[in-house]
Amino acid sequence: MTLKKERSISEISIIPEPVKIIPEDGEFILTNKTVILTDAQLKKNAEFLKKILTQATGFNLPIKEIPPRDKDSNVIILKVNDNNKKLKPEGYSLHISPTEINISAITPAGVFYGIQTLLQILPPEIESSNATNLVWAILCVKIEDYPRFPWRGFMLDESRHFFGKDVVKKLLDQMARLKFNKFHWHLTDDQGWRIEIKKYPLLTEIGSKRKGTITPQNRLDGIPVSGFYSQNDLKEIIDYAAERFITIIPEIDVPGHTTAFIASYPELSCTGGPFEVSTHFGIHREVLCIGKEKTFQVVQDIFDEIIEIFPSEIIHTGGDETPTRRWKRCPDCQTRLNKEGLEKLGDLQVYFTNRIADYLSSQGCRLMGWNEILNEKLSKNAVCQYWFGQILEVIDHIRNGRDVIMSEMTAVYLNYPYKITPLIKTYQYDPIPNDLEEKYHQYILGIEACLWAEFVKDRKRLEWQVFPRLIAVAETGWTPKKKKNFNSFEKRLDSYLKRLEISGINYGQ
Ligand code: ACM
Ligand code: ZN
Repeated sequence: MTLKKERSISEISIIPEPVKIIPEDGEFILTNKTVILTDAQLKKNAEFLKKILTQATGFNLPIKEIPPRDKDSNVIILKVNDNNKKLKPEGYSLHISPTEINISAITPAGVFYGIQTLLQILPPEIESSNATNLVWAILCVKIEDYPRFPWRGFMLDESRHFFGKDVVKKLLDQMARLKFNKFHWHLTDDQGWRIEIKKYPLLTEIGSKRKGTITPQNRLDGIPVSGFYSQNDLKEIIDYAAERFITIIPEIDVPGHTTAFIASYPELSCTGGPFEVSTHFGIHREVLCIGKEKTFQVVQDIFDEIIEIFPSEIIHTGGDETPTRRWKRCPDCQTRLNKEGLEKLGDLQVYFTNRIADYLSSQGCRLMGWNEILNEKLSKNAVCQYWFGQILEVIDHIRNGRDVIMSEMTAVYLNYPYKITPLIKTYQYDPIPNDLEEKYHQYILGIEACLWAEFVKDRKRLEWQVFPRLIAVAETGWTPKKKKNFNSFEKRLDSYLKRLEISGINYGQ
């Protein structure tokens, strides 16, 4: 007996909203005779597409190189076309006609984003691992598209809680579908060190474990928290992200937020310790000693390993919430202050940041830090990530031609409850300050949403906090400002949420 196949419903409901959509008549039917035709340089893109299509439909679609074209009449064509002056970096054009789906771009990344749009035009069941009873009808349409910002990021804190590879890969899958291109990974903090550093094994032997966590009622829960990524794990995730055109920006938070660091190596503190990996949250007074040369040696050795593992040019060195109290009473820090002719205690931080920035530059990398690194003496090539306060200093920095990523905490910190940061507030946030002159807009590289995990213990909670607000941030990062519209977004979100449900992803509201 043959089962009657159900007709699927395709609709043009895409997040982020593309720059230009022109609906056309007719539909393309995806069948087990469909062929994927591709340039040699797009093999990985073709395999990415094939894997998803095969998983959902059960069709084993062949991938062939163009030319030769043969006589295939039901084809998906992926092409890099560097002569098309109309296309922008990361942009693409997608044309679905009854016999052909054409995706072309000037870069493989652009083709990848065209594929993501195609997947969103396919019925939501395309996200399933078993929907073999459908007729896959795809509406005809022409789309021209490119991003508003080159930096479309999401930060995950795995110090406070450790989620592991599978959770991260699932997030990367969603980031790809939403055309994000930067995954900022907060891997160290007071409550845990989560990355293997071969030269300093105590960082994970001691620093990756804590006794428990303080509850919102201010009690220690007594439930141990531990975990870290081996360098092999990291390489696996970096490759997974790269297949999705996502660069991973590692963050080692220094010189503050370092309790787990100095619990492992107390000689790098001002007092010598001892310390325990922290069980509570907030700003911690124990920080790295800026007076001791050993601090710089160890930090540079750590960044040597980081640079070896992560292909990213930009390396995040934190720099937020660093109290100066310990430096005040430390003879080494005082000697440093005098020797370097620094005016204020707080200048020890910019001294530290600039030494690390210079070191990273000497290794072909570029430092990025939270807005507390700002100082008139800050190294020119440092990238600032804005989260809180200091907006005038940030605007000065931009007017000096320096690069900034915007992560205004009241809008895009996804750990806040929905009562405080509802979806509409996240959606309506614009990373370009109102009074910033247009000639400086280019220095705002983009937007990044952040998930701090103090009170996020597991995957379900993490996804609840992140979705759907991350979907709103995707639209801000990609869609032209004048095309953004919350009512339209909400309608399209209904369709996207169906996709999340099919993918087994939790979401909040
Ligand atoms: C931060 O939220 N402390 C960057
Ligand atoms: Zn000191």
